[in-house]
Amino acid sequence: MSDFAHVHETPPPGAAADWTIPQDWDRYTPQEHDTWVRLYERQMKVLPGRACDAFMQGLDALDLHGGGIPDLEKLNKALEALTGWRVVCVPGLVPDEVFFEHLANRRFPAGQFIRRPDQLDYIQEPDIFHDVFGHVPMLTDTVFADYMAAYGRGGLRALGLGQLHNLARLYWYTVEFGLMQTPNGVRIYGAGIVSSATESVFALEDGSPNRLGFDMLRVMRTPYRIDDFQQAYFVIPGFEQLLRETLEDFAPAYERLKALPDLEIDEITGEDTVIHRGDQAYAKAGGRFAV
Ligand code: PHE
Ligand code: FE
Repeated sequence: MSDFAHVHETPPPGAAADWTIPQDWDRYTPQEHDTWVRLYERQMKVLPGRACDAFMQGLDALDLHGGGIPDLEKLNKALEALTGWRVVCVPGLVPDEVFFEHLANRRFPAGQFIRRPDQLDYIQEPDIFHDVFGHVPMLTDTVFADYMAAYGRGGLRALGLGQLHNLARLYWYTVEFGLMQTPNGVRIYGAGIVSSATESVFALEDGSPNRLGFDMLRVMRTPYRIDDFQQAYFVIPGFEQLLRETLEDFAPAYERLKALPDLEIDEITGEDTVIHRGDQAYAKAGGRFAV
């Protein structure tokens, strides 16, 4: 998303005006397919019982299993029939406006490339594994699919209003790093978590991060980490509630936010619903940069 350095300002050579490029599925090497398989198999060891039902069902519905990098032409047939969404390839990060325009029109922009074998554990720029394995199963859920399209429209609006820094936090703490309360316990739905073997465990089970009840305005005041595990996760009661709250006009919230200071990344306020009060031990020890 928007917090990484943009590699390009205008569509690079070979890309269309909307920044899309062909997937060129035939050109992935056996080693690249193997990278997908290894990442997929790792996730399958941690996700059952941790990822929400909608995610696991989405994998099935799209037949997103261990056979290698998916051919998006085939995947799109199944996805379009379910929720009207399609996946398009882009060369890397695209400008915010281009990104939102795609989402608003039910096109999910996915990186065409896959990470190198030495980057299995961590990459900062989203690749096709993060984008397709992490995000696309959720787009088979009708309510979540509507939320993502609404977010695209809201992003274009927030850009115009100069409030994207606030709205981006909503994306981060839901679409990328969201947790959900279910009858069987807290489950993961955020793409940044489900595409990471280590964060899938950390987000749910580690004592370090705070786990707080989701509150729209609160989330929009909370900074986030782009370089390490989150210090706070927000737990939604379900997708219907999330969609209902976000369909409200954000203009009054944006006005209030102009007068409200940001919170500290690890802060817990008197108004928070505390599901787990983290000790922040991981962050205090230096996180992934600890020696
Ligand atoms: N309701 C938001 C607005 O008025 C738009 C939005 C919808 C944002 C869904 C995020 C998610 O700007
Ligand atoms: Fe993502």
